[in-house]
Amino acid sequence: MIHKFYIGQVIDCLRRIESESVQCCVTSPPYWGLRDYGAEGQIGLEKTPEEYISKLGEVFREVRRVLRKDGTAWINLGDSYAKTESNNGGYSNKSTLSGFTRPDTKGRIANETGKTQRIKSNLESKNLVGIPWRVALALQADGWFLRSDIIWSKPNPMPESVTDRPTKAHEYLFLLAKSQRYYYDAEAIKEEAAWERWGDQTIKKENPGKVSWMKPKSKQELIGKRTYSGFNQRWDQAEQDGTVPKFRNKRSVWEIATEPYPGAHFAVMPTKLVEPCILAGSKKGDLILDPFGGSGTVSLVSQWHQRSSIYIDLNPKYLPMALERNGFNGLCHADTFEIIEQEAIPNV
Ligand SMILES: C[S@@+](CC[C@H](N)C(=O)[O-])C[C@H]1O[C@@H](n2cnc3c(N)ncnc32)[C@H](O)[C@@H]1O
Repeated sequence: MIHKFYIGQVIDCLRRIESESVQCCVTSPPYWGLRDYGAEGQIGLEKTPEEYISKLGEVFREVRRVLRKDGTAWINLGDSYAKTESNNGGYSNKSTLSGFTRPDTKGRIANETGKTQRIKSNLESKNLVGIPWRVALALQADGWFLRSDIIWSKPNPMPESVTDRPTKAHEYLFLLAKSQRYYYDAEAIKEEAAWERWGDQTIKKENPGKVSWMKPKSKQELIGKRTYSGFNQRWDQAEQDGTVPKFRNKRSVWEIATEPYPGAHFAVMPTKLVEPCILAGSKKGDLILDPFGGSGTVSLVSQWHQRSSIYIDLNPKYLPMALERNGFNGLCHADTFEIIEQEAIPNV
């Protein structure tokens, strides 16, 4: 397998990749207005959501070019809240690579070098911006086939001190395809079936009112009988025959805990979030792309599953971490890119 690490502007790096060579893109772009990655030209600090969406649109147009005709892109995005100058009081404008940056009292985000940039939207303060869906719909309008919105549900969300809305405990993962028909291995990510039958299975004495829609001559006649008779008869038969399916198609809510990665200065994608995307979106030997590579999670999971990978990131400071995590210690060429081959790291 070949693993490539490119350092530079995402668009420039993508232009170095051959058209229709990548099977699957799995990525978590910088979220809008949330974090400063300390590099000139980074995405995420645009003044308005519209500018941010248009930049991501350009990136994903290039991603579409490098994807094979039956390729897919899995994009993880979180949301932001609109903030205005008047109620940002109290937020620090201190920004470090490890910091979670918020706008300062003038609605600006400071970067590593102390330069500031004004961040605002035309929404009133406190509004949820709806960035993930805005991006998804913009990509759809640009020609992508939007195939699924997946909820990444976090059992261990970041605590929030809010008292006027629920604590945010989810992000989105969108599955987009280059064509109407695309490679998707449902079998590879099927789930164990913990079957819970929907509806009342057996009409209970104590609650005959629940079956009023059946218009029985007498509800008493139905007590002890099954509702939804056709379905239940087939099911009872399957139970007798031992043919109740043990697996089911993967559903669209994925419960995955965030995985802290020591040394990472930003939200690292959990390997468990990346794994189903790669398994469903590609075969052994295929090429996987992460145009916003960060700590190199997508390359690592690609290695576990015998896929090749391309990593891109603007910030050369993240490269040693990504290389080390991927078992390429000492091969750090911060301002160039390297093609490296090695035995795949086993998934332990
Ligand atoms: C959310 S992080 C990705 C984290 C990654 N998925 C992981 O698991 O470690 C976004 C990354 O995008 C990079 N980035 C921001 N703007 C960029 C640009 N214009 N070109 C390339 N990379 C960029 C940042 O440096 C940051 O590492």
